[in-house]
Amino acid sequence: MNKITAAITAVGKYVPEYVLTNKMLEDMVDTNDEWITTRTGIKERRILKEKGKGTSFMAIKAAKDLIAKANLDPKDIELVIVATATPDMQAASTSAFVASNIGATEAFSFDLISACSSFLYGMSTVASYIESGKYKKVLLIGADMNSSMIDYTDRATCIIFGDGAGAVLFEPNEEGYGLQDEYLRTDGKGREFLQVAAGGSVLPASEETVKNKQHFVYQDGRTVFKFAVSNMADVSEKILEQNQLVKDDVAWLVPHQANKRIIEATANRMNLSMEKVMMNIHKYGNTTSATIPLLLNDYEEQLRKGDTLIFAAFGGGFSWGAIYYTWAYN
Ligand code: UT7
Repeated sequence: MNKITAAITAVGKYVPEYVLTNKMLEDMVDTNDEWITTRTGIKERRILKEKGKGTSFMAIKAAKDLIAKANLDPKDIELVIVATATPDMQAASTSAFVASNIGATEAFSFDLISACSSFLYGMSTVASYIESGKYKKVLLIGADMNSSMIDYTDRATCIIFGDGAGAVLFEPNEEGYGLQDEYLRTDGKGREFLQVAAGGSVLPASEETVKNKQHFVYQDGRTVFKFAVSNMADVSEKILEQNQLVKDDVAWLVPHQANKRIIEATANRMNLSMEKVMMNIHKYGNTTSATIPLLLNDYEEQLRKGDTLIFAAFGGGFSWGAIYYTWAYN
């Protein structure tokens, strides 16, 4: 029997209709379109406005989009992983709610939480399940409602983040397509630079934490930027070396969308021209766990069977890494 690899066989997406533009942010905080565009590459982002709806709402929509496009019977799905930094609730798994709602009644499910690297780590996790030979259809959804933890009076963070979801179906492949190799890392020193301080076990919610705005994202942007640039570029270079790949072998860089300048620095280190770099940060901003699956949706038609893709991400924790992947369909 040939070696089993984990290959993506279908993709789906959902972004909320509401568009928050740079111009609109100019009326909310002391910022301007020119600053945001040159420093981040972002022009607009989507925000989920409907009251009482959270990350699962978008995850379900993205999964249903995939199910419809792939003509998939949801009962055939065996595992649903929701990669997210903004689960619906504490204690109750978001993925369980999502799996039931999409009709994946024969599946088990869990949430995978690792900030902006959640989807990348999810790919690695799914690959192990598939490679074991035990699972044949695994749905990985990256979804985040970042607006639920953003202070829209803080110009340092509110210009960056957006909401969205992307879904990807993995199946076994015996022709060698799919996930080939990975290089994943974490460093817990990073948590002081990017975090939501309260609401977890270290600092449970209280009147005090609300008053102190500790349920919002705090980011020391300059420090995170520095680590993101060097680490994302490092791992992208390492994954090439580790697999004796040269830049001409690479069809696409699929980078987490945190800042256009971080993406450009990574491409530069790999000596890659920007035509080979997937980018949609101008439309959606940083959607945390959803950036990578949203890219796959937006670029699906341009992808060809056999294309070499390098995925790369960096995020809170710190967490980061790169994956070498061969696209499996036209
Ligand atoms: O995905 C998870 C990981 N996250 C990231 O990778 C994000 C990493 N960080 C970044 O992308 C960037 O650091 C930011 C986009 C957050 C900020 O860009 P920056 O070039 O690092 O700006 P800065 O924080 O160094 O600030 C430069 C100046 C400051 O003014 P002074 O001190 O030079 O007078 C800021 O106060 O820009 C000011 N500033 C702004 N001005 C207009 C900060 N935010 C804004 C704003 N509009 N929104």
